[in-house]
Amino acid sequence: MSQKISFNFDNTKFMASDSEVEAIKPRIQAAKKTLVEKTGEGNDFLGWIDLPVNYDKVEFGRIKEAAAKIQSDSDVLLVIGIGGSYLGARAAIEALRHGFYNSVSKEIRKTPEIYYCGNNLSSTYISELVEVIGDRDFSVNVISKSGTTTECSVAFRLFKEMLEKKYGKEEAAKRIYATTDKARGALKTLADAEGYETYVVPDDVGGRFSVLTAVGLLPIAASGADIDKLMEGAANGREYCLSKDFDDSDVMKYAAVRNVMYEKGLGMEILGNFEPALHFVTEWWKQLYGESEGKDGKGIFPAGVDFTTDLHSLGQFIQDGTKNHFETFINVENPRKAVIMQKEAEDLDGLNYLAGKEVDFINKCAMEGTILAHVDGGVPNIRIDMDTIDELSLGELFYKFEFACGVSGYTLGVNPFNQPGVESYKKNMFALLGKPGFEEMTKELRARLNK
Ligand code: PA5
Repeated sequence: MSQKISFNFDNTKFMASDSEVEAIKPRIQAAKKTLVEKTGEGNDFLGWIDLPVNYDKVEFGRIKEAAAKIQSDSDVLLVIGIGGSYLGARAAIEALRHGFYNSVSKEIRKTPEIYYCGNNLSSTYISELVEVIGDRDFSVNVISKSGTTTECSVAFRLFKEMLEKKYGKEEAAKRIYATTDKARGALKTLADAEGYETYVVPDDVGGRFSVLTAVGLLPIAASGADIDKLMEGAANGREYCLSKDFDDSDVMKYAAVRNVMYEKGLGMEILGNFEPALHFVTEWWKQLYGESEGKDGKGIFPAGVDFTTDLHSLGQFIQDGTKNHFETFINVENPRKAVIMQKEAEDLDGLNYLAGKEVDFINKCAMEGTILAHVDGGVPNIRIDMDTIDELSLGELFYKFEFACGVSGYTLGVNPFNQPGVESYKKNMFALLGKPGFEEMTKELRARLNK
């Protein structure tokens, strides 16, 4: 079980000393026990723990078939979903596939362009996406566990109409792939009535833990990434997380160190990457930790930065501003591609001292220099070393972050698997829209808004 992901805590010791980490160890061990023995709050949402080894193989095969069909009959795939119903897929596709996926030529990309919608309510965004699709062939993967999320339902209605106008109802139905609950919700009802191919979000897997279900796997497979390897990487992560006890487990130590620092007043964790391809991994991580830990007046606020660009904006604040945060950097040891600096006859830009060096060497110096500067500024730094950005590493990273999140959430004393805050906004929006069944609430909220 060779690991592609490891954590380095050398630069946190001034805030989370070895003895402080040792002191929290029993609580971390107890939290892990609660998680794996499924005895804590939210224990009906722990299906993700075994997903990498215990998943529906028949559905997995159908996902690959659907991906091949989409690749053969579509220029564009629209992924309609929000939150946990899209961030994992986008994180994986943007990390694993070409950095300019939609813009690069089809000869290089080989697979359909992929666009995301149903993650906002902007009429401008939707209209402009219609223009991007133009008269090209397209398919839709609509993803919603509840089947009732407004952003997603609105976008789906519009693009379903577009498909039906273009292909007729029957052919359109063959281009719609619905990922939702196995039995409940408006999307399931609609999918059954219209005869769409459906995929299941398991009852015991919440949105933000669903990247390794059809929610993430269908779009990821359609993009041409290898979902077998992604699952293999996650299975490696799972074996590590389940088999190692505290002293040998980076994942438990990550949960420990972040809780020690939180209890000392550092209420924000900033995830930084030095590879643009990881931007949406950060977005996925923000949702995972934000929705899992931020409740009951507690939690570490998960923020994200893309370096080196944000060194020229938020870097100032991180280094020098209010000190309520720690950082976690993802360091990719081996970039997929190398670019070497060349020597110029006249060294007008003064860069000949870098001739023969890879751009990644400069990137690593930027990272190491940033760590030293931020640590000097009093900001603790956790470094996650990732072998390279491929399916094996990413699957392992997804799993390790999920597991650490469960352990950390229980250590914090919250139920990491519900999201009551998200539900509140959804209900308010239904009421303000005048959805049937919300009449009393509609009156009350409109009165509050003087409408
Ligand atoms: O993690 C979560 O549970 C949420 O972010 C959901 O994924 C998000 O609200 C979308 O919900 P649904 O899949 O029901 O449309």
